[in-house]
Amino acid sequence: MLIPLILSGGSGTRLWPVSRKNLPKQFLALAGKGTLFQQTIARTRQLPDVAAPIVVASEDHRFLAADQLLEAGIRDASIVLEPLARNTAPAIALGALQALQRDPEAMLLVLPADHLIGDTDAFVEAVRQAQPLAAQDWLVTFGIRPDRPETGFGYIRRADAIDRHGYRVGQFVEKPDLATAQSYLADGGYDWNSGMFLFKAARYLEELATHAPAMLEAVRMAHAKATVDLDFVRIDRDAFARVPDDSIDYAVMEKTRRAAVIPVSCAWSDIGSWSALWLTGDKDADGNLREGDTLAVDTHRSLLRSHERHLLATVGVDDLIVVTTPDATLVAHRDAAQDVKKIVEQLKAAG
Ligand code: GDD
Ligand code: MG
Repeated sequence: MLIPLILSGGSGTRLWPVSRKNLPKQFLALAGKGTLFQQTIARTRQLPDVAAPIVVASEDHRFLAADQLLEAGIRDASIVLEPLARNTAPAIALGALQALQRDPEAMLLVLPADHLIGDTDAFVEAVRQAQPLAAQDWLVTFGIRPDRPETGFGYIRRADAIDRHGYRVGQFVEKPDLATAQSYLADGGYDWNSGMFLFKAARYLEELATHAPAMLEAVRMAHAKATVDLDFVRIDRDAFARVPDDSIDYAVMEKTRRAAVIPVSCAWSDIGSWSALWLTGDKDADGNLREGDTLAVDTHRSLLRSHERHLLATVGVDDLIVVTTPDATLVAHRDAAQDVKKIVEQLKAAG
């Protein structure tokens, strides 16, 4: 049974002030039809023989997730609620334990809820190609050809071919520094880790047992104490608080010997920051990505986004990000887009 596992617990701080604690980016319509979360769910419906999804999200967003699923016509999803965030390795472990209750042979297609994919057919084809590898106990990642030395991604070195489509992962390096990322780009033998994975649920838990046994033990306890109410599986707070915080990339993918990669060209984009959104969006003749009521005079390569009935006008500026909401306005250089999270950190510190 192929079960999509939708990771929906991130907070999207780099897309402040539109993405907020109570309404993070995956639940927003930032590009394309519907929210990023709904687009992710809709894509899985194109896969042949796919089971109902498992969504792992924060307890704070339970109604957002449930409402957006219903709006997308999905009535049979399981929604696992985390009382606090422990990053992706525990979130996937919760999903795996949940999947095993449905089917001991369950195969998990792990999908971040906040990516844009332009070519659904290519995505569906890549999942199809990955299935035989996952059935042979490989942990399959989907590799994207890099076009810039991005430091926010994992890098995968392709080693020997396993079959017609997949390769062994020679090396998996999560979020290298800039010099290392530049050398990988120049080398040409590295792909980005898209953050999507396909593996047997049981296999993933075995990997955790080897590389992060304390985490597995703590997640098992927390899942065993979960309470089920309506469509929600609520994870016990005290038990989950004991789970160590780590991502699948550091906890498993950098360490396992069973990683494989399927290269995929599906017009993929991680909408991580305003500059990433600017890169993927449809721009005007001056290279400006504009949303809402905007007036741009002698303005170039900028992202201008205004909220309802608010006119945003610029003159004589280049490479800017200007985003207005009813209670906050962001002005940033496009090169500083990654640092928008510092604003959120300062706001948090100030209470
Ligand atoms: N349920 C849950 N709980 N989901 C989470 C949590 C959590 O504690 N933390 C993050 N997520 C979700 C996010 O919402 C996102 O959809 C996905 O898991 C990945 O988390 P990110 O925090 O966005 O990871 P990243 O972008 O820094 O890095 C990952 O993705 C890159 C590609 O976008 C890594 O896998 C990189 O190797 C990869 O290149
Ligand atoms: Mg991300």
